[in-house]
This record gives sequence, structure tokens and C-alpha cells, in this order.
Amino acid sequence: MASLDLTHRPRRLRQSEWTRRLVRENVLTTNDLIWPIFIIDGENRREPVGSMPGVERLTIDEAAKEAVRAQALGIPALALFPNTDASLRDETGTEAFNENNLVCRACRAIAKAAPEIGIMTDVALDPYTSHGHDGLMRGDEIINDETVEALVKQALNQARAGCHIVAPSDMMDGRIGAIRQALDANGFEGVQIMSYAAKYASAFYGPFREAVGSGGFLRGDKRTYQMDSANSDEALREVALDLEQGADMVMVKPGMPYLDICRRVKDEFGAPTFAYQVSGEYSMIMAAVERGWLDRDKAMFESLIAFKRAGCDGILTYFAPFVAEQLQKGA
Ligand code: PBG
Repeated sequence: MASLDLTHRPRRLRQSEWTRRLVRENVLTTNDLIWPIFIIDGENRREPVGSMPGVERLTIDEAAKEAVRAQALGIPALALFPNTDASLRDETGTEAFNENNLVCRACRAIAKAAPEIGIMTDVALDPYTSHGHDGLMRGDEIINDETVEALVKQALNQARAGCHIVAPSDMMDGRIGAIRQALDANGFEGVQIMSYAAKYASAFYGPFREAVGSGGFLRGDKRTYQMDSANSDEALREVALDLEQGADMVMVKPGMPYLDICRRVKDEFGAPTFAYQVSGEYSMIMAAVERGWLDRDKAMFESLIAFKRAGCDGILTYFAPFVAEQLQKGA
């Protein structure tokens, strides 16, 4: 046997839990979590999302109860996504501007029930359009500048309902600056913007589209506005633009397949950087858990610490309540 150079034995630091804890480089805490929840109309009702085991759509009263639980667990913020009734969807997404739409009502109910929790709302037209796109259409085209005007109206509507963070997920050009200006001009200087800055056209949104009921409507795909998954430098340009235009925080989405992008964005800008562990990522893990192929808690924690390692300040994840519960128990 060749002689080994054992001047260094890296295993020495892995011998037991106390030493592993001592040299651990990253930690996941409840402060890192944003919990996305799906809202439906009605009362006292929860509907399982078939493609997302363990995730339910909640009526506003149930969502308010979950907000109270989330607040008690120490989860800093919720992200709200409405499943709008098909009868309220139209070509131009009119329901997005209704001050009594699902999301606005949910904001008010949650702010009342759980005043310490941050409320984030999604700015994009897809839950409201009959074609399932995030923007307005002319023929087959998603028209940018008119869409930005609509998004500004939508963001103001959400701000008036009391959301704390608006999160434009639409990927139109110029929308961050337009939304920032409009918020400021209307007395909402304190409303934060988390931009979905590097959002890729991804197959991993499939289960989400079922959850919000937009999948069946979607005409074509979103590749003329969401990013090409082959690109990396372009993500830095997108993030630079959003930060210049006034984004307070930026997001990379999806998460696990784009950890390289998270790291580059954090290194380049040092801004508050978030990742969205999207529906398909959650469902992949849960499908394997259901088959007995993966241990849920281990896979959940390992998938989330990866984001911390990649430089993220926080993660939007459907695992949020499960993680927070485990952390509270001292996991
Ligand atoms: C819509 C939006 C999507 C997600 C968040 N906001 C889907 C899409 O762009 O089609 C995906 C979230 C997930 O998959 O968990 N603007």
C-alpha cells in the first residue's frame, strides 16, 4: 500500500455532533423562511392540492388561522397566491384591480389576525387572465409597456389592502421602477419590493399552476418574458436593472436547479437575495417521500441548507411550516 500523507485528517472535525456543530459554516433558522400559501373563496374550507402533497388551498378565515400559527412559530412572512374563480378571469385580468379581490381581502384578514407577520403579494396578471399569461396580450404577443401600467395598478391595489411587500413575478421590462414611483407617489414609501429578478421559464412551476388553477388556461408558454434556463450572465443584468430601479430585495427562481445563479447574484451585488424553492421542487421531494424513497425531514433540511450555502438570505418554500415546527422542537 502506498504511504498515506495524513498530516491532515479532515475527518477529525467530523467525529461527533459537538465538533460538527462547532465548525458548521451555515445555519438555517426560522428567520430565513417565507411561506407561500394558496387562497380560495368561501369559508371554513381547505382543499388539498393534488400535485403538492401536504399543501392545501385555504379560505381566508383558514389562512388567517395559519397566519396566527406562522406568527407563533416565528415565520417572518407569508406570500399570498389567489386561486381566482374561473368566472372572474378575463382577457385583461380586471379582477387584479378589484379592491375586494381574494388577495386584498386576505391581506386585511391576515393583518388583523397576525399583526406581527409580513405579508407579501404577487404582482402578475396570471391568476386573473383567461389566457393564463402574466401580462396583457395582443394576438399572440405579451405586450410589455401596457402590462407595466396594469401591474402598477395591481401593486397599488395590494398596497392599499395593507401588504408589506409587493413581489413582481411577471418579468416585464421596467416594471420595478414604475411600481416604485407609483408606490412613492401614493404614500406607500414603506412598502417593500422583492423582485423576481431572475425568473426562469421553468417546467418546475407545473404544480403551482394547478394550485392556482391557471395551468388549464395557459395558452402557449412564458418563454418570451421568463428567462432561458441556459443563461447566467443575463441573470446578473436583470438583477442589476431591478436594483437600479429600486428593488429592496431580489429573488432567483426556481431555486435548486439555479443555485449557481444565487451564488453569483449574492457575490456580485451583496443585496438581500432570496430563492424560491418552487412547487415542482417541493413536489419532487414529496413524491419520493410518499413512495418511501426519501426521508422527508432530512431531504427538506438538506435542500434548504443548500440555499444558505449558495448565499441566500432567505427562501420561499412550501416546507416553511414543517421546517419551523422542527426547528421549534430543536432540530
Ligand atoms: C406567476 C407565478 C408563478 C409562480 C409564482 N408566481 C408561476 C408562473 O410563472 O407560471 C411559481 C411558483 C411555484 O411554482 O411554486 N406569476
